[in-house]
Amino acid sequence: MNAASGWSAKSIRSGTGRGYRDTFAAMNSRPAELSARSDNGSLARFAWLVLAVNVAVIVWGGFVRASGSGAGCGAHWPLCNGEVVPQDPRIETLIELGHRITSGLALVVVVALGIWTLRLYSRATASGRGMRRLAWLAILFIFGEAALGAGLVLLEYVGQNSSGARAVWMAGHLVNTFLLLAILALLAERSHREATRERLPVDRASAGTTAELAPRWLELLSFTALLFTAMTGAIAALGDTLFPATSLVEGLAQDLSPTAHFLLRLRVLHPLVAIGTGLLWIYLAQQVREAATAGARAGFWARWTLSLVATQFAIGLATLAFLAPVPLQLLHLLCADLVWIAGVLMLDCRRRAAVAAAGA
Ligand code: HEM
Repeated sequence: MNAASGWSAKSIRSGTGRGYRDTFAAMNSRPAELSARSDNGSLARFAWLVLAVNVAVIVWGGFVRASGSGAGCGAHWPLCNGEVVPQDPRIETLIELGHRITSGLALVVVVALGIWTLRLYSRATASGRGMRRLAWLAILFIFGEAALGAGLVLLEYVGQNSSGARAVWMAGHLVNTFLLLAILALLAERSHREATRERLPVDRASAGTTAELAPRWLELLSFTALLFTAMTGAIAALGDTLFPATSLVEGLAQDLSPTAHFLLRLRVLHPLVAIGTGLLWIYLAQQVREAATAGARAGFWARWTLSLVATQFAIGLATLAFLAPVPLQLLHLLCADLVWIAGVLMLDCRRRAAVAAAGA
């Protein structure tokens, strides 16, 4: 095993490797657990649906910001302009209210997913404990998401507010959103894997080589860089919303002027950081793709990561060139969510494959 890689057999065995061995032991000794596969299949389908609902709600949240509708319900939360059902609402009110209703739905389905997972998985195995931890985290982060969204309204970080505090809050909101998506994606992927255990040998075949790949610090760096890129994107998007440019040249001049608002001066950071981060992920995904055998989940997610990063570059360039029209902003936000999800699942599948190989 490559010592420099940080993927020693010892580290693998001392970690979640026990989870897989426990899982296999439990599988052999308890046939009843095999019959739980269909339950896992249903849970997996529900978890993918919950993930999709959350992505849709996030994109709608982007629309609330891009259309300047954040103050559509005034500084009232959970009431809207002091009323449960607003009378004679403006279009901004309908947009903001729509986001509140759909994010309430997202909260309900995430909590339902958490409870279902807790009921299905016992504490007896390491993989069960891992799923239960994810379930609790999902519940925690969806409440965090609701609290951060409510904070935006109550603190009046909406409409034309261009304060530094709003920028920090929005970046924090985005980090919470990304962590929530990662947790939901892991719940979906892992319950899918539990439901289709017969595919594991395929993943194992690729594990010997995938285990030799990037060290843990490189994975951490990649995740941090992607989170940071998204945070700078949220700040760029806020700058575009508050200070729309009338031409590319004027926009660039604004970005480089020492007297410009700090949101404009920060705006230029995002494309630069994004290019570096994108190249890092292309490198990582390329490594995983080359090492994975046909049919391995890690390879599947690596191909998605590659395509999505390339697509995101194209959408980002177009967003810049066409001065951030709202449909492109939303497409770019959607693609950022998908890049993140594919990247998280790619590295999770690769790690699991390495663990399975070490326990084989
Ligand atoms: C992996 C690559 C990238 C990621 C993860 C990413 C992520 C993001 C995110 C999360 C936002 C905020 C969207 C919103 O809140 O509505 C954003 C905005 C933006 N990004 Fe990127 N981005 C990437 C690449 C690029 C590239 C390569 C460019 C340009 C060359 C670019 C240009 C922009 C622009 C101009 C905005 C502001 C658009 C707006 O007003 O909504 N991005 N990005």
